Order: sequence, then C-alpha cells, then structure tokens
Amino acid sequence: MPQPFRSLVILTGAGISAESGLGTFRDKDGLWTRYSLEDVATPEGFVRDPVLVHDFYNARRRNLIDAAPNAAHAALAELERHWDGDFLLVTQNVDDLHERAGSQKLLHMHGELLKMRCENCGQVTSWTGDAAPDSICPVCRVQGYMRPHVVWFGEMPFYMEMIFTALQRCDLFLSVGTSGTVYPAAGFVSEVRQAGRAHTVELNLDPSDGHSLFAEHLHGPATEVVPRYVTRLLQADTPLV
Ligand code: OAD
Repeated sequence: MPQPFRSLVILTGAGISAESGLGTFRDKDGLWTRYSLEDVATPEGFVRDPVLVHDFYNARRRNLIDAAPNAAHAALAELERHWDGDFLLVTQNVDDLHERAGSQKLLHMHGELLKMRCENCGQVTSWTGDAAPDSICPVCRVQGYMRPHVVWFGEMPFYMEMIFTALQRCDLFLSVGTSGTVYPAAGFVSEVRQAGRAHTVELNLDPSDGHSLFAEHLHGPATEVVPRYVTRLLQADTPLV
C-alpha cells in the first residue's frame, strides 16, 4: 500500500448507517423501493404534496433520534483524532451519526435531517420535532415557508468547491457504504484518479457500480471492514505523515 499519506478524503453513504438501523436507498427494502423519489425528494414533489414530503422526513427524523452511531462511525472519528495530515469527511447522509460519534471535519453535501430552512428568510435552524406545511420559522416568524434542509434531486449539493479542492489534493480516498450511483458523489473517484496521486479504496458490503475504478476493495459490513481498515492505517509501520 503506498504510504505515507498526507491528505485524506473519505466519502460515506447510507451503508455506513445501515447497521444503526437507518435504511439505505437502493438495497432490497431500501427507501426508494417503498417511496417514489420524484414524490418525496424533488422540489416539484414538495410543491405538489407538501404533507407527504413533511411526513416522509418526519418519520426519518424520528428514526434518527432513536438510532445510535455504530463501530464504523466511531472508527472514522478515531481516525480523524489520530490523523496529523489534511482530513475531510464528506457524507451524503443527512443523519447526524458521524457528529455523534465525534467526527468534526465533516461536510454534509446532501444537507441535514435535523435542520429546516425557511424559504422566506433563508435561515437554517435546528429541528428535532415534526414539521408541517403551516410550520412557523423561528427566525422570521412567518408561517408556511419551512422545508427540510436536505438536497433534493435537481438541486445543487452543498460545499462542492471545497470538496473538489480536497479531492484534487488528496493522496488517499476512501469510499464507504455508497452504491456509487448518484452524481456528483459517484464521480469523486474519477476526479481523484484524474489528479493522479491518490490511492483509492472502496469499503462496501458488496462491489458498488463504480468498484472497478478503485485500486483496493474491502467488502463486508461497515462495522467490520471500517474498524479493521482504520486499525491498519493507524498501525502502519511507516508514519502516516
Ligand atoms: P444507496 O442505498 O444507493 O447505497 C448504499 C450502499 O451501501 C450499497 O452499495 C450497499 O451495498 C451498501 N451497504 C448496505 N449495507 C451496508 C453495510 N452494513 N455496510 C456497508 N455497506 C453497506 O445509498 P447511497 O449511495 O448513500 O440522495 O445513496 C446516495 C444518495 O442517493 C443518497 O444520499 C440520497 C439517495 O437518493 C438524496 O436523497 C439526494
């Protein structure tokens, strides 16, 4: 394995939270097998039926509050604590399990379930309860403009400039628990390969759509493969920086 590594970018997806009891999207029984993403994850769906969309996110929010981070979240937080070089964790997940495990250098490119955004004043606020079309913005006090602070299909993910800068500079890229089907995240490994200096590793239950683009693969449940890989990185004979 090429070492030492100085600059690490990790991408995570729904698979890392699966063993915490949060459903993935595309697995058997995944969310998109039970709901139409056009109905609950697009701006048009929200205009058409805001009650349905709020109910969908209310249910996910309640599940999240009852869930806890697992050994894979904990291992990535531990890796961050011991990593002396550049470190960036980019998650497609809207859950807060990385934060609860202790991760700090973290970007939620698809937004956050425990936040709502007011389309009247633009402010983002913490939100742990249910929301409805007549919810009042706690900042501007206007009713009827609150929406989940999540990125829907057709909308631009957050922090893209910072993420692409980190991808171009990194020398180790890990992709954890993602099917590699949704862009732009699905294109991160190609971006890293184009820059030409990074080792790329996929850690996933089974080979993702883009698995052939990775130099190294560890397949299995995230709670097993992620702690094992982190231990290997932290115990590498060669200093990491
Ligand atoms: P997916 O549901 O598409 O993929 C989850 C991946 O996790 C699959 O490749 C599974 O094999 C893997 N997996 C399942 N259980 C696992 C486990 N215990 N350990 C390790 N891997 C496991 O979820 P994402 O790739 O995150 O976007 O989906 C990307 C985006 O599509 C989401 O952020 C969401 C969705 O539509 C928006 O809503 C904008």
